[in-house]
Amino acid sequence: MTALLSVRELTRRFTLPRPFGRRTEPRVVHAVEDVSFEVAPGEVLAIVGESGSGKTTVARVLAGLDAATAGTVALAGRELAAVRTPADQRLVQLVTQNPRAAFNRRRSLRHALYQPLRVHGLGADRAERDALVLDMVERVGLTADHLDRLPSDVSGGELARLVLARALLVRPRVLVLDEPTASLDASVKATVVELLLRLRTELDLGIVLITHEIDIARRLADRAAVMYLGRIVEIGPADRVLSGPRHPYPRMLLASVPVPDPKRVGPASAESLGEGIVGEVPSALAPPPGCAYHPRCPFTTDVCRTERPLAEPTGDGSVACHHPR
Ligand SMILES: Nc1ncnc2c1ncn2[C@@H]1O[C@H](COP(=O)(O)OP(=O)(O)OP(=O)(O)O)[C@@H](O)[C@H]1O
Ligand SMILES: [Mg+2]
Repeated sequence: MTALLSVRELTRRFTLPRPFGRRTEPRVVHAVEDVSFEVAPGEVLAIVGESGSGKTTVARVLAGLDAATAGTVALAGRELAAVRTPADQRLVQLVTQNPRAAFNRRRSLRHALYQPLRVHGLGADRAERDALVLDMVERVGLTADHLDRLPSDVSGGELARLVLARALLVRPRVLVLDEPTASLDASVKATVVELLLRLRTELDLGIVLITHEIDIARRLADRAAVMYLGRIVEIGPADRVLSGPRHPYPRMLLASVPVPDPKRVGPASAESLGEGIVGEVPSALAPPPGCAYHPRCPFTTDVCRTERPLAEPTGDGSVACHHPR
């Protein structure tokens, strides 16, 4: 089967401007290096990793808001150009963290939801666009009455659902969610999670879910990828990668998160995973040689300091480590 979304060897480097008056070598941020993954229709792939690991950069390239330095993004087997045509722009929709920033605070929410339909020429006439907007607003659990308000006159959770409605109105094939629940309180978070679970099956979307919150990733994702300093260090089924990862980095990440179901502890118990977060992420301006995680890893040997580990198949995914558990 052809994957819905197929990302191959994606790399994004940023060259920083030279400090004024200095003739130094240009400094290059290695934001994303050689990232590959696939997402099937109806599948949720979670991308987790500490701050600065390159998650948002991947999201922006997927949505066509930024161009890759190298690598490709393909949809249903067709490679998407770095500068998207409007027709292709519609197919991958990005939803970012702060719903308030996503709307013009002076225009009604109705206007905000009509706008993308107009831009993409969807809906034959006013009546059809009305029907499309209303249908989507109801799908996300809101009513027509919300549409005549300003963004300031609905709650944070309602706004988060309206952002989703707006992204879904243009009928994307892939939804990229960058920390969609980070600014929401626990009860609203639960509502949005339920909504996403329902929509992915109703609409057969591929979803890339970027999150700091391991419990949200566990709840929503079928597969999970763990990023460290721009690279995927492990990818596989979410329940395994987020409970018993092979790579020492996700093992450390998970050791700092409470285990929700004590019956499932097994090999992934907090004790056997170690002490929690140790050390800091090195600068993406100068990633360590060899395995980028080696300065923080308790299992480092000589080979880790000199040779970058390749992604080796694990049967259900892959892991890039010289000494996987
Ligand atoms: N426009 C840019 N110019 C230079 N460096 C950038 C730019 N955008 C991102 N970076 C750098 O690229 C790296 C990855 O950033 P990115 O925003 O993708 O991380 P992230 O995983 O989303 O982090 P967070 O969890 O904090 O949102 C960081 O080192 C960041 O400073
Ligand atoms: Mg980010």
